[in-house]
Amino acid sequence: MTKKRNVTVTVNGEAHSGEAEPRTLLADFLRDELRLTGTHVGCEHGVCGACTVIVDGFAARSCLMFAVQADGAEINTIEGLAENGNMHPLQKLFSEHRALQCGFCTPGMLMTAIDLVHSHDSLTEEEVRIGMSAALCRCTGYEGIVNAVAEYARQVHGKDAGNG
Ligand code: FES
Ligand code: FES
Repeated sequence: MTKKRNVTVTVNGEAHSGEAEPRTLLADFLRDELRLTGTHVGCEHGVCGACTVIVDGFAARSCLMFAVQADGAEINTIEGLAENGNMHPLQKLFSEHRALQCGFCTPGMLMTAIDLVHSHDSLTEEEVRIGMSAALCRCTGYEGIVNAVAEYARQVHGKDAGNG
């Protein structure tokens, strides 16, 4: 049996440690070892975006990273979005715009959108569509998702993301 290694990460501001084999994916480490099951696993080969988390400030597919690669990293997951029982503004917009149905893709969509919006000073609707194409949804047809993310971008950037 492969020897397990200790992996320490900061997740949503809290230090966590656990054991991982060298081949353990970060997604599985978060879900199975740290019991943070909000991060979903769909395709397990980097296509669907369901497993997206923020690692050291950048969106990353946690099915394409080994847990040992994340040792020492700061990670943000869906569990850290709501504060004191209040939904994050983007979560509220997803609800208002009916940007989810079964919800399987939603954690990855939200983390993808957070990275997209906060890594730009402004976004056109087309740029929102291109940025959000990193994550796949089998239910919604994307209109609600694009509208929610475009409105969030307007709130964050303080300008119109609906044109261009
Ligand atoms: S589960 Fe990671 S991209 Fe699909
Ligand atoms: S809401 Fe079902 S996959 Fe997106």
